[in-house]
Amino acid sequence: MGRVVLATSAVGLERDVDLPPVLDALGALGVSAEAVRWDDEGYDWAACDSVVIRSTWDYAERLDEYLGWVDHVAAVARLHNPAEVVRWNSDKRYLRDLAAQGLPIVPTVFLAPGDPVELPGHEQFVVKPSVSAGAHDTARYTADQGALAEAHIRSLQAAGRTVMVQPYLSRIAEGERALVFLGGEFSHALRKGPVLTDIGVIDNARVAHPDLVIHQPSPAERELAVAAIAAAPRSKEILIARADLALADDGTPVVMELELIEPFLFFGHTPEGLERFARVVREWTASGVG
Ligand SMILES: Nc1ncnc2c1ncn2[C@@H]1O[C@H](COP(=O)(O)OP(=O)(O)O)[C@@H](O)[C@H]1O
Ligand SMILES: [Mg+2]
Repeated sequence: MGRVVLATSAVGLERDVDLPPVLDALGALGVSAEAVRWDDEGYDWAACDSVVIRSTWDYAERLDEYLGWVDHVAAVARLHNPAEVVRWNSDKRYLRDLAAQGLPIVPTVFLAPGDPVELPGHEQFVVKPSVSAGAHDTARYTADQGALAEAHIRSLQAAGRTVMVQPYLSRIAEGERALVFLGGEFSHALRKGPVLTDIGVIDNARVAHPDLVIHQPSPAERELAVAAIAAAPRSKEILIARADLALADDGTPVVMELELIEPFLFFGHTPEGLERFARVVREWTASGVG
């Protein structure tokens, strides 16, 4: 079995609390693995067999460079998830593909640079960039904060970014559901508290996963998560997937986002999930899946 690299980042080396236990769990199964920053200039990616993306949490700020790295690694080693999946998932405009297949998503208006600014009639709404992670450059507004929201949208557009405007789903207070699939099988799910608790502010230091608790997904949630992941390109080759769902006003689940690049997997809450991850990585990297 060849060498496995877990791709991380400067911020991941500092904050990915799952990295050390994952390396230990892989080591216990006899998999020789190491964590390497994706932007490590001196690293020879051709020297490893498989690269499993884990905590490349700065990719959204350097997307072109990152996608260049993804293509390079995919050309010289086996990359999980595949490059095509990473590229598709890096811009939340993929939500349109889900909607086109009839899957429920958070209702979204996309505003490209240059598009006239439309503000929704909702009592509260969210403005966020289509390329982003960790709720960066994201804010929640009330209907009377139109001027503030418009300035936010225009500044994102001026930076060449596509903007998403959505109703604020207030039932997010009952928890956003994060369903984790490993090797194509459901593994575990967590529920997390709302991130946008403050109104009218952009705060890039927000906690991305507040108040985590283990969650038993409803059949409707599981079904939607499976269908959403199946809508991705090369979906059979997806080693790691997280489907984040919110509840619409009528209580039915809708897709907030799919995390197919570098999702945090909450192993501190699930020793079984950690074991499963190590087994799946061993199996996929040994057998050459993907
Ligand atoms: N339409 C919305 N209604 C309620 N909360 C939202 C909405 N959009 C985003 N949020 C909150 O902001 C967080 C980050 O948004 P998300 O779309 O998941 O982007 P990312 O995690 O990639 O930054 C979510 O976890 C959720 O708490
Ligand atoms: Mg999210």
